Amino acid sequence: MFLSVSIAFVCFASGVLTNSLLTPCKISDLACVEKSIKAAVPKILVGIPELGVESSDPIFIEEIDGNLSIIKYKFFNTTITGFKNCEILNFKLNEDITAIKYDLNCPTLNLIGKYEVSGRLVVLPVEGKGDFQLITGKYSIHVDSELKKVQGSDGKTHLSIKNFKLKSKALSPIKFDFRNLFNGQKDLSDAVHKFAHENWFEVAELVQDPTWNACIKKVTNNVNKYLKSVALEDIVLH
Ligand SMILES: *[C@@H]1O[C@H](CO)[C@@H](O)[C@H](O)[C@H]1NC(C)=O
Ligand SMILES: *[C@@H]1O[C@H](CO)[C@@H](O)[C@H](O)[C@H]1NC(C)=O
Repeated sequence: MFLSVSIAFVCFASGVLTNSLLTPCKISDLACVEKSIKAAVPKILVGIPELGVESSDPIFIEEIDGNLSIIKYKFFNTTITGFKNCEILNFKLNEDITAIKYDLNCPTLNLIGKYEVSGRLVVLPVEGKGDFQLITGKYSIHVDSELKKVQGSDGKTHLSIKNFKLKSKALSPIKFDFRNLFNGQKDLSDAVHKFAHENWFEVAELVQDPTWNACIKKVTNNVNKYLKSVALEDIVLH
């Protein structure tokens, strides 16, 4: 396995692309495209140091800013694991390769870092700062992206992901562990944790977007670095 991946990179370097992570396909052959992308994505998410592609699992994010109307939170130095185990479902690529849509079906995502929070968690006031860990159950993240084609210095066409819109949904309970809420007042902290555990779906709907946007932004940057090494001419069959 490792050997074949290494050989693939040697082939990149020498300009022979038949062994790239993406199998050449006709765009109209959606089954081929889907299979090719599904096979390549986990390898891209692990990271490809030879191509400057950082790891997407774990992801490290210095600051996530959750500036929402009823609750403000920040996560610092957060490590997120689990994206490489997400399954890609309902994949759609349009024929002119300008848009792509899919669902990430993630068995569990784990976030660990430091937090600051102040505001209302749906109905309960909440504030504090300290260490946190979040362990989700199944999560569905629908990703809707526009693609753009750019001319590389090699004269070939490279794809890049221009933007993304997410629609996320927690599908099973989430474990919330926020240390030192209310400066360590246990009763108040227990009440917030109890509420969050009982109302995980509503709590997730309230707070999730800034966090998943920050994660998918990192993953997108990593995938775009990989795409710079792939010429569309070499992976699209006519
Ligand atoms: C947070 O959002 C409000 C508007 O909802 C804005 O006025 C404020 O500047 C934002 N704060 C930061 C730190 O981005
Ligand atoms: C995040 O990590 C950096 C580098 O280790 C450190 O300087 C900073 O204080 C950390 N932030 C928080 C809020 O702990």
